[in-house]
Amino acid sequence: MATVDGPRPAPATVGRKADHIRINLEEDVAAKGITSGFEDYRFVPRALPEIDLDEVSLETDLFGYRLQAPILISCMTGGTAEAETINRTLAQVAQERRFALGLGSARVLLEHPEVFSSFNVRPYAPDVPLLANIGAVQLNRGVTTGDCRRLVDLLGADALVLHLNALQEALQPEGDTTFGGLLRKIEILCHTLGAPVIAKEVGWGIPPDAVGQLLAAGVSAVDVAGAGGTSWSEVERHRLGSETRQRVAAAFAGWGLPTAEAVREAHQAHPDALIFASGGIKSGMDASKAIALGAHVAGIAGPFLRAAAAGVDAALDLAEEHVEVLRTVMFGIGAASLTELRDTPRLISNRPPPISVISHTLAYTTRETCEFIDITDDVLGVVAAAGVRNGIVHVHSNHTTAAIRINENEPYLITDFQRTLRRLIPEENFEHDVMERRPNVPPDEPRNGRSHCQHLLLSSSESLPIRNAQMQLGPWQRIFLIELDSSRQRHVTVQVVGH
Ligand SMILES: Cc1cc2nc3c(=O)[nH]c(=O)nc-3n(C[C@H](O)[C@H](O)[C@H](O)COP(=O)(O)O)c2cc1C
Repeated sequence: MATVDGPRPAPATVGRKADHIRINLEEDVAAKGITSGFEDYRFVPRALPEIDLDEVSLETDLFGYRLQAPILISCMTGGTAEAETINRTLAQVAQERRFALGLGSARVLLEHPEVFSSFNVRPYAPDVPLLANIGAVQLNRGVTTGDCRRLVDLLGADALVLHLNALQEALQPEGDTTFGGLLRKIEILCHTLGAPVIAKEVGWGIPPDAVGQLLAAGVSAVDVAGAGGTSWSEVERHRLGSETRQRVAAAFAGWGLPTAEAVREAHQAHPDALIFASGGIKSGMDASKAIALGAHVAGIAGPFLRAAAAGVDAALDLAEEHVEVLRTVMFGIGAASLTELRDTPRLISNRPPPISVISHTLAYTTRETCEFIDITDDVLGVVAAAGVRNGIVHVHSNHTTAAIRINENEPYLITDFQRTLRRLIPEENFEHDVMERRPNVPPDEPRNGRSHCQHLLLSSSESLPIRNAQMQLGPWQRIFLIELDSSRQRHVTVQVVGH
């Protein structure tokens, strides 16, 4: 770790830490025009929970510790005298309630070891998972695995959180914006640190594709840290001198992926991954919903900072309130354990699911007139790929002499269909086939008046309901493309609409 020779002026990193605490406590730093999304969900209560309140257990294991509730006091601060008081208060709360505890970025500690005491909370929270923290971008700025290892050892931490804060760095006049090639550096760190690495955003969310990249790189957990709570563009806006720069920062007040969406999508895409949810978790109800959407722990930063600034009792009261709401929610839906809460079908969305419209074109080369081509399996393939659970599939022939019809695929019956079509529209002289009378007819125009007239009796399309992801065909029903003309290329549009 870097050492400091002799006294030096208050470093920029320390000044920034002090600014961050002051601004978070005094200014409106909430995201604007975007919410965490938890308000879009509600629990369906059980009038008969069939458990006793005493049976409800909020315990969960994390990095070798047993938490008494799935709550993480998110990474915030260190480096100043005020930060030291706040960190000790938060450590006391974490220890008493057996919550996990995160520390603020320790970059300042690498640069100025003399600020160690402001981060040194292990003596106050010996029995909880303690998470050290540093900006991932520092891996591109000379911070080595050895530095990270020393931080973890020095702080007595159980894991290292790497925060991903590209937008914050872009808005800071002194920001580090060298994010190129960072994933590879994260991967190397994960394989060499010798302690779990957690990737975390700072309030704009990690979408499922990036969650996948980080898991593949070897991180042990991902904190999606979504939008809807503390907005770091708003915090930085208050530190900017120029009005133009302030307006640039203000443009991002509604930026990001809402936390509820981020955790739901991350869990759906990576059901076995250890996912933390933070960003805009303001109550035990939000925390309960975060767990029910797939999170293992719910992280809370800003609200605990404000409570800690008011004193230990206020911070303990906030902790108790969250735990009691969480416990009561679990009782109210009959979930005795966090596993049952995570698996509950009783969290429902207030919003109608968005309608998807998926189109696909199927191509066929037909062989002869009156050919019946069974395209059912191809249509089923499109429906399956569309992933629509409830809706409708429309199957449309883009031609006037090739029809779409539903009937039974039985060879003798198909011979009957062919005979019926020929009998209903017999061979005769069709006006359409007298080419001399039609203007601008190309030389290869087919004489197909009969095919058109047969098509008039049939139809260009069929629509079928989709229920529970199943196309509703009867046991004998198949979908046919019927060639009424001679051999040619045909296209069938399959459009799936639903959710
Ligand atoms: C004063 C303050 C300082 C923060 N410093 C850090 C930090 O050093 N590292 C980090 O990963 N996140 C930091 N955060 C971000 C939080 O951990 C969290 O991701 C974000 O504030 C959203 O959560 P919230 O809506 O509950 O506040 C800080 C938050 C606050 C309020």
